Amino acid sequence: MPKRALSAVLDSGATSAASVIRRHLSPAVANTSDFIAERASGSYIYSTDGQKHLDMVASLGALSTGHCHPKVVNAIQKQAASLIHSQQNIFAATTPLVGLLDRMMEITAPSLTRFFFANSGSEAVDNAIKIARGHTKRQNIICFENSFHGRTYGAMAVTTCKTYYRQGFAPLMPQVVVAPYPYCLHCKVREAHPDGDSWYKVQPNGNPYEARGCCNAPIDALKWILKQQSAPSDTAAIIIEPIMGEGGVLVPPPGFLPALRQICNEHGILLIIDEVQVGVGRTGEWWGHQHVSGTAIEPDIMIFAKGIASGFPFAGLATREHLFEGLSPGTMGGTYGAGPLACATACATLDVIKEEKLLDNATARGRQLASGLVELAERYPILDVRGRGLICAAELGSRGGAASAEPGIAAAVTKAAGRRNLLLCTAGAREVLRFLPPLTVSEGEIDKALHILGESLEEVFNSSAAQLKVA
Ligand SMILES: Cc1ncc(COP(=O)(O)O)c(C=O)c1O
Repeated sequence: MPKRALSAVLDSGATSAASVIRRHLSPAVANTSDFIAERASGSYIYSTDGQKHLDMVASLGALSTGHCHPKVVNAIQKQAASLIHSQQNIFAATTPLVGLLDRMMEITAPSLTRFFFANSGSEAVDNAIKIARGHTKRQNIICFENSFHGRTYGAMAVTTCKTYYRQGFAPLMPQVVVAPYPYCLHCKVREAHPDGDSWYKVQPNGNPYEARGCCNAPIDALKWILKQQSAPSDTAAIIIEPIMGEGGVLVPPPGFLPALRQICNEHGILLIIDEVQVGVGRTGEWWGHQHVSGTAIEPDIMIFAKGIASGFPFAGLATREHLFEGLSPGTMGGTYGAGPLACATACATLDVIKEEKLLDNATARGRQLASGLVELAERYPILDVRGRGLICAAELGSRGGAASAEPGIAAAVTKAAGRRNLLLCTAGAREVLRFLPPLTVSEGEIDKALHILGESLEEVFNSSAAQLKVA
């Protein structure tokens, strides 16, 4: 039988194979590397050219238990042999769904008693907006600067971290208001305050974020928004990530989320917490919003995806009991939501996270990573190290010591790391390197990643021959 054309290109081993193949895929999907992935295990991914890459991106945080964890693979194989799919409108439930509900109720706030399952984070965000509008009979949704909630029309409308997610796609979903978010490193109030620098320091150990102060300007701004732009009686929900992931790994100052909870309570506004990127153990707690000390903050709707099923497409949301009042049967659904294969994968993922104590590993390895980045900040222009557990970032400065970083410098560092077989990604509209390794990552792998990063920073910042190879 004649070889199919693209398979033949791949088998020829030509260095241009990736670009030939990509000619048949959407050019609107951006690629940060040009290798073709073949197989993977743990923290490593192997490409068809025989290279082994250390993965500090983990499919943007989806691979919570690492690549192809044997228990997750086994659960998928077993489930595939007994029931691949059964549409959620046809049966009351499936056995893997029952197992998943039990597990989810163990790890979510007691007030979150109702669940809805979908296939992607964006789809779950759209459904959360539907629930909020349907329940409150109000239209407005308040989101924040630097947010990312997805690429579908509803999710895109509440995404503000980069113009290119929305550019050219208007009209967007209406009735969205964008509120300021505390980006402390660039906060003008902090810069102008005589004690401002002591509010905010790069600290390698412990949990620096609890010590960081806030000028409270964003909360004041939100209160004005409710007076000037979006009356509380028109405001259905406030949607926020516990840490802005795509927006630059921005950890809110300690009082910020409790203040949002209080404002929502005062006005009957629903608080939607989007845990798609930082949930399921990544921060060292099951959920990113659980780090708030003192007054516990509980969402009205919590959205999850990515890490919940180790990279298998799956997502969902959990809500307070009464929130579905006002939504009649049929208003929510979908062919693949709550599918048994995805539910079985999620059950295995949650079991592995528990059995292998991956929350503790996320905390310990996160500290190791942050400490290593702070050490690198002594030699290279790293302006800030931030994150929690295994979502961690380094914001870069400029090569010549200028106040603002050169555009493209973070991408140049990820390219330099890629040439050394370390996968990294960037975040936000500024120059930020982001780390989202699997929760199973070892001490040795973090050391190796830091070592390669050091070499890459040296190449980009100190080599006279270095050019910004961003393309
Ligand atoms: C916080 C957050 N919400 C929603 C999404 C969208 O998820 P998906 O890509 O599964 O649609 C993402 C994806 O990165 C995310 O980080």
